[in-house]
Amino acid sequence: MMKKLIQAVILILVFYLILKLGIPALGSFLHHGTWPVVPTNLMRIYVFFIVAGVLLYLTFNEESAKELGKPIKEVYGNPEKGGLRMIVIAVIALFGGYITYQNVKPSFEAPVELRSIHPAPPSSVEMWGKPYNLLKLTNPFREDKANFEKNAREGGIVFFKNCFYCHGDKLDGKGHYNSGFSPMPANFVDVGTIAQLQESFLFWRIGTGGPGLPKEGAPWRSAMPIWQHFLSEEEIWKVILFLYDYTGHSPRTFG
Ligand code: HEC
Repeated sequence: MMKKLIQAVILILVFYLILKLGIPALGSFLHHGTWPVVPTNLMRIYVFFIVAGVLLYLTFNEESAKELGKPIKEVYGNPEKGGLRMIVIAVIALFGGYITYQNVKPSFEAPVELRSIHPAPPSSVEMWGKPYNLLKLTNPFREDKANFEKNAREGGIVFFKNCFYCHGDKLDGKGHYNSGFSPMPANFVDVGTIAQLQESFLFWRIGTGGPGLPKEGAPWRSAMPIWQHFLSEEEIWKVILFLYDYTGHSPRTFG
């Protein structure tokens, strides 16, 4: 009597497992060391279509539709099955409660892959079609003591035209768009960011942005734009000068 219903449950389960384990396994076979899961939202859509598809298939003619419905009718319609009915209803309600709980409970787990906030820079980088040796690169405006204030102020103009939407007008990472991004825009006032870094590191990070990060900088996509597409080399050096001048931090030096 339960044959069709069991068949339906098994079919749904098999398709679910293919999505849940089969696709990541195939991905890991093609790209060793990865386990690309199907995103939850996509999974929901697929499961919806699987359930709909299996039900369509099993109710294709009247006879099998009846057979599929029989155990359900029996439980809900037969006056003698009152006890079983209560149990089934309770299980369904508890299952619904469980799913809801799983969805709303906060998670304290670290992300699957940890992101390195300051990944090791490459030793050289190509920007504006030219190679730069990051091991030796220094800020050409740093030594120009006579024009320091003027250059830092020009860097400030670059900042307020381009960067403060994200990094904030106090350079604390709390710009208008701050909470829209994960990872969040860097807080330059914090001693954990530019105070720890060399100017060449900043030059590289600003010039190549989020997409320029090496693999350790993933898996969260950084929204930091590729500024070499919008700014000149000079503007980037000046905005770096401004970041340190405004926050009062000194860049880390070589050696
Ligand atoms: C669309 C938002 C956005 C804008 C606009 C933006 N940034 Fe960023 N920036 C980010 C995010 C998000 C991060 C943190 C993730 C990362 O390191 O890439 C970041 C990181 C950085 C870092 C790395 C800091 C560190 O501690 O490693 C520097 C330097 C930086 N930004 C400078 C700038 C400068 C200079 C500008 C303007 C020319 C700018 N940003 C404009 C979003 C933005």
